[in-house]
Amino acid sequence: MMRLTPISNLMEKPSFLPPFMFGLLFATFGVILSAKYSSITVDQSALLALKSLITHDPHNFLTTNWSTSTSVCSWIGVTCGSKHYRVTALNLSSMDLTGTISSQLGNLSFLAWLDIHQNSFLGSLPIELTNLRRMKYLDFGNNSFNGEIPLWFGCFSKLQTLSLYLNNFIGVIPSTLGNLSKLERLSLGGNQITGGIPNSLFKCKELKFLSLFNNSLEGSIPTEIENLTLLKTLGLGINHFKGKIPSTIGNLTTLEVIDLAYNNLSGEIPLVIGNLASLQMLYLFNNRLIGEIPLVIGNLTSLRELYLGNNKLTGKIPLVIGNLTSLLVLYLGNNTLTGEIPLVIGNLTSLQSLYLSYNKLTGKIPLVIRNLTSLQYLSLSNNKLTGEIPLVIGNLASLQMLYLFNNRLTGEIPLVIENLTSLRELYLDNNKLTGEIPSVIGNLISLTDINLGLNYFTGEIPLVIGNLTSLRVLDLYNNKLTGEIPLVIGNLTSLRVLDLSNNKLTGIISCFFYSPFCY
Ligand SMILES: *[C@@H]1O[C@H](CO)[C@@H](O)[C@H](O)[C@H]1NC(C)=O
Ligand SMILES: *[C@@H]1O[C@H](CO)[C@@H](O)[C@H](O)[C@H]1NC(C)=O
Ligand SMILES: *[C@@H]1O[C@H](CO)[C@@H](O)[C@H](O)[C@H]1NC(C)=O
Ligand SMILES: *[C@@H]1O[C@H](CO)[C@@H](O)[C@H](O)[C@H]1NC(C)=O
Ligand SMILES: *[C@@H]1O[C@H](CO)[C@@H](O)[C@H](O)[C@H]1NC(C)=O
Ligand SMILES: *[C@@H]1O[C@H](CO)[C@@H](O)[C@H](O)[C@H]1NC(C)=O
Ligand SMILES: *[C@@H]1O[C@H](CO)[C@@H](O)[C@H](O)[C@H]1NC(C)=O
Ligand SMILES: *[C@@H]1O[C@H](CO)[C@@H](O)[C@H](O)[C@H]1NC(C)=O
Ligand SMILES: *[C@@H]1O[C@H](CO)[C@@H](O)[C@H](O)[C@H]1NC(C)=O
Ligand SMILES: *[C@@H]1O[C@H](CO)[C@@H](O)[C@H](O)[C@H]1NC(C)=O
Ligand SMILES: *[C@@H]1O[C@H](CO)[C@@H](O)[C@H](O)[C@H]1NC(C)=O
Ligand SMILES: *[C@@H]1O[C@H](CO)[C@@H](O)[C@H](O)[C@H]1NC(C)=O
Repeated sequence: MMRLTPISNLMEKPSFLPPFMFGLLFATFGVILSAKYSSITVDQSALLALKSLITHDPHNFLTTNWSTSTSVCSWIGVTCGSKHYRVTALNLSSMDLTGTISSQLGNLSFLAWLDIHQNSFLGSLPIELTNLRRMKYLDFGNNSFNGEIPLWFGCFSKLQTLSLYLNNFIGVIPSTLGNLSKLERLSLGGNQITGGIPNSLFKCKELKFLSLFNNSLEGSIPTEIENLTLLKTLGLGINHFKGKIPSTIGNLTTLEVIDLAYNNLSGEIPLVIGNLASLQMLYLFNNRLIGEIPLVIGNLTSLRELYLGNNKLTGKIPLVIGNLTSLLVLYLGNNTLTGEIPLVIGNLTSLQSLYLSYNKLTGKIPLVIRNLTSLQYLSLSNNKLTGEIPLVIGNLASLQMLYLFNNRLTGEIPLVIENLTSLRELYLDNNKLTGEIPSVIGNLISLTDINLGLNYFTGEIPLVIGNLTSLRVLDLYNNKLTGEIPLVIGNLTSLRVLDLSNNKLTGIISCFFYSPFCY
């Protein structure tokens, strides 16, 4: 049920722009001023060769615009330099183009920016591109290139950005990338790259953004990571890294994003993490981390998202968590945390998602949750919580998902639930809840899922359930409900799951519309 999508934050976003403005201004006078008419002709044939290998141009960007009757420098996506009147930048991003890359592109000898991300270019990259010695910015992301990452990328000694994310590259990360001493952004996520992180990469001391996530990389995270002292983003999630998180990570005090999720990392969360005062996102979920949540986590007051779930962490939720008042997401689910939910949780007033499910938490749901008025997602399921659902739940007006199933909650569903008008999913199953299903539930017209199974509810199923036209799941099994099954249920055309078994209900469901249950 939990949708974990933090990884998308690591997708490439160019951090600087080429001097397009100069290019456009110059294009106006370009033809007159051109001293090297023959050289721009070389550029023109290189671009026409590129165009000739484009097999699909659905929006006719190049088909109509790249015409020999106009200057190359006025062509869409093309920028020329102001001094030498040659093509310096080519930006064909997001044009839905299909095709292969012409080897003649290597003739654009003044090219410094090449951005073709988000198209459907395929095949391998021609070695002639090595002629482009001025290259600073290469973005081939989100295409269908395949083969190995070419060794010759190491030739681009001025390269600052190399983006190959979301392609079909295979093989290892070439150690020649260590020659790129100016490299600031390396984005290789979403390919099928194997092997370890080559040691040479730690020679790229200008790196600020390193994203290798969603590949098949293995080995340990090298301690030499400490050499990348300018690093802001370290994205190694969804790979096969194992061993401990190196404590040298504590040297990287400029880090803002650490994503090590979905690996096989073991050992404890290193205490040096407390040095990383700029950290905004910490994703360590889905590993094999043990030990307690370290108290130094309270130092990370810039944290906006903290994902430590799906590990083997033990002990209590530390009180210092209350210091992290910028938190939007707190995900500690699926560990072995014990003790009560600390009252300081009420300090996290910006919180939008609180996920503490699948632990061994005891005690009551604390009243301080009344403070969490931005909460959209509250999941406390699969714990050992006791007591009643607190009335203050009515304060959480933004709540969309409420998961309290598999606990030991008692008492009735509070009527204040009618305040939760954004509620889409309500899972209270497998508790010890009593009383009637309140008819105010009929006001919550956004509801798609209701599961009240395995409780002690009595009385009749309220007719207003027929107002919930978006309902997909209605599970009321194993209760003590009586009376007739309301005919209105047959009118709920979106219903896909209906379980009323093990009650004392009578009657049949009559259908007015098609629904899987209308047979
Ligand atoms: C290319 O153009 C797109 C869309 O206009 C823009 O978002 C992107 O930043 C440009 N690329 C470079 C390298 O400037
Ligand atoms: C080609 O596109 C550019 C940029 O959008 C535009 O300025 C120019 O007029 C177009 N040329 C033609 C021949 O359509
Ligand atoms: C890391 O930096 C140290 C000190 O600057 C240097 O001696 C070492 O060679 C570097 N390691 C790598 C792999 O570049
Ligand atoms: C990392 O931090 C440790 C301890 O603070 C220090 O000894 C070491 O020199 C640092 N490494 C680098 C590469 O700065
Ligand atoms: C936590 O922060 C305090 C001061 O805010 C600092 O003295 C301490 O060194 C930090 N702890 C760690 C482990 O970084
Ligand atoms: C708990 O985490 C483990 C990985 O650490 C995962 O395999 C398992 O599916 C998770 N269970 C739940 C209920 O999320
Ligand atoms: C962090 O929280 C603890 C316990 O709640 C508190 O004693 C400490 O002063 C807080 N530290 C900071 C830096 O706010
Ligand atoms: C944090 O929570 C504690 C306990 O609920 C409370 O005493 C304290 O005032 C809160 N601090 C802030 C800054 O809200
Ligand atoms: C609730 O939030 C307020 C600030 O909005 C804070 O002062 C108070 O301490 C919080 N209460 C608890 C119990 O955390
Ligand atoms: C229900 O919502 C109203 C208006 O948003 C608010 O005034 C009231 O306090 C809420 N009731 C509860 C029990 O939270
Ligand atoms: C909700 O259901 C009740 C009883 O079935 C009905 O009288 C009422 O008109 C419905 N309200 C809306 C807004 O559909
Ligand atoms: C179901 O819908 C039909 C068609 O709108 C309506 O005539 C009928 O009264 C509804 N039945 C119930 C029980 O609400």
